[in-house]
Amino acid sequence: MVMIAGYDHFVQLAESLQWDETELDLGPDREAWPRLGDDEAATVRGLVAGFCIAEASVAGQLGSYQSAAADDTMQAAFRAQARDEARHARFFDLVAEVVLQVPGDSPAARQDVLRRDVSAELVDLFEHRLPATARRLAEDHSGLTGAVGLYHMVIEGVVLLAGQHAMLHALEGLSSPLPGLRRGTELVLRDERWHIGFGSRVVQSAELGGEEADALLEQGETASKVWGRLITDDAIALAVKQHRRRLKAAGIKFW
Ligand SMILES: [Fe+2]
Ligand SMILES: [Fe+2]
Repeated sequence: MVMIAGYDHFVQLAESLQWDETELDLGPDREAWPRLGDDEAATVRGLVAGFCIAEASVAGQLGSYQSAAADDTMQAAFRAQARDEARHARFFDLVAEVVLQVPGDSPAARQDVLRRDVSAELVDLFEHRLPATARRLAEDHSGLTGAVGLYHMVIEGVVLLAGQHAMLHALEGLSSPLPGLRRGTELVLRDERWHIGFGSRVVQSAELGGEEADALLEQGETASKVWGRLITDDAIALAVKQHRRRLKAAGIKFW
């Protein structure tokens, strides 16, 4: 039942996909921003706000996952992922600061302002539920599969992926394009794909009970709604469908 090949190829993949958020030119985005209509700006701002909060949170939680890793290759993959998440957090914060001109002299100060633009459920998921799961994992390493289920399958596989697709969709139809934000979002999405692949592999190597599997499915359905009106019902339905398919592909059976 154990997957012996390890997780090295995820580490190599991560290495080949590195990018630098400071090399993206946000100048055109900054010029275009004041020209956007109110509704356009509100949608992009809500999504950027969600990502500022989400990426800062996920970046901070991977330490517990690294210590609970089953072997060195898995630990190295969590470490590579942590590097990506920190970059994602810096990228969205840079967009908030430079393009949206959100006031505040630090990422935390800007997040305080941006918290008003997202639902209480989103804040609760990222700032309470995920940290609580990581804390439990730090105390009891046997909870790794469930913790990866929440982080990689539910949060990344459903919430963040749906948000990134919604962002790309919103950016496509703008009256004034935001090319730096679009390019950065595409690069974030590319990173998230290997994170989700890695998480699926961790979950696949474990044997989940039917109850745990059902909980993962249910969590995905609930979590997909945290974006509120920023994401359409169709996009939510698609995210949940893909989540179910990914869980099945990881060999998870539902009751
Ligand atoms: Fe991320
Ligand atoms: Fe990620």
